[in-house]
Amino acid sequence: MHNLGKFSKEEYLAAQIEASKRKFRFCKVSTRCVARFKEVIYKSSGGNIRGPILCLGTRNGRELDIFRNLFFGGRLKAILMRLSEKEQYAFSSRFPWLESMGMSDVAKIDERSVVGVEINPDGRRKDVRICSFDEMPKEREGKFNIVYSNTLDHAYAPEIAAKEWYRVLAPGGYMVLGFPGEPVKVTTANPSGDLTFQQIKSFFPGKLIYYNKYGNCFADAIIKKS
Ligand SMILES: C[S@@+](CC[C@H](N)C(=O)[O-])C[C@H]1O[C@@H](n2cnc3c(N)ncnc32)[C@H](O)[C@@H]1O
Repeated sequence: MHNLGKFSKEEYLAAQIEASKRKFRFCKVSTRCVARFKEVIYKSSGGNIRGPILCLGTRNGRELDIFRNLFFGGRLKAILMRLSEKEQYAFSSRFPWLESMGMSDVAKIDERSVVGVEINPDGRRKDVRICSFDEMPKEREGKFNIVYSNTLDHAYAPEIAAKEWYRVLAPGGYMVLGFPGEPVKVTTANPSGDLTFQQIKSFFPGKLIYYNKYGNCFADAIIKKS
């Protein structure tokens, strides 16, 4: 397995939480990139976009607000998201309280839910489950029609994490990924940064329907699970 044995899982989790706390104000996902994901999925599904949506490694949770408002919030909310976004190193909102209105509930997941998983306890919200994304509850198998993550480079053992993410994605669902465009240095905070796109693709068998090496902060890809 990729990084097993390089450092312990405890060291890894402590490093993830420390880095997440340090950068807590920022979200690397932008309204513009989620709007692009929606366009691609809309086209691929013949206009039949379905949730629920699961986001993995959500830090302060803003990406959940972006996905929920853009996918299920209607045109006005999408415009509001765009107008309230500011970019400074990463992305944040001028009106976080406005964006988070209508938040989903992890205890009541339906077709329009957008929920997350995060290891940093500071990331707790009504729509976020605090746990490691490589150990998802058994009953979540095949539950989500869209799974998003820009954190595979943060996985302790990416083969195991990817298997879990695909397990909870429904057949025919969309795996949406953000990842470093070029392999980066391996550290406890970035233990799988050296993965190549070929390796990443091999973890998620299916049809590659979108690839953009120059997304807003990462390269982006969407794979339709067969
Ligand atoms: C690079 S940040 C990305 C945060 C967010 N997706 C964004 O775009 O701003 C990685 C996040 O993943 C979380 N994370 C790392 N390893 C995790 C794990 N095993 N399980 C759940 N969350 C994890 C970290 O705590 C951190 O908040």
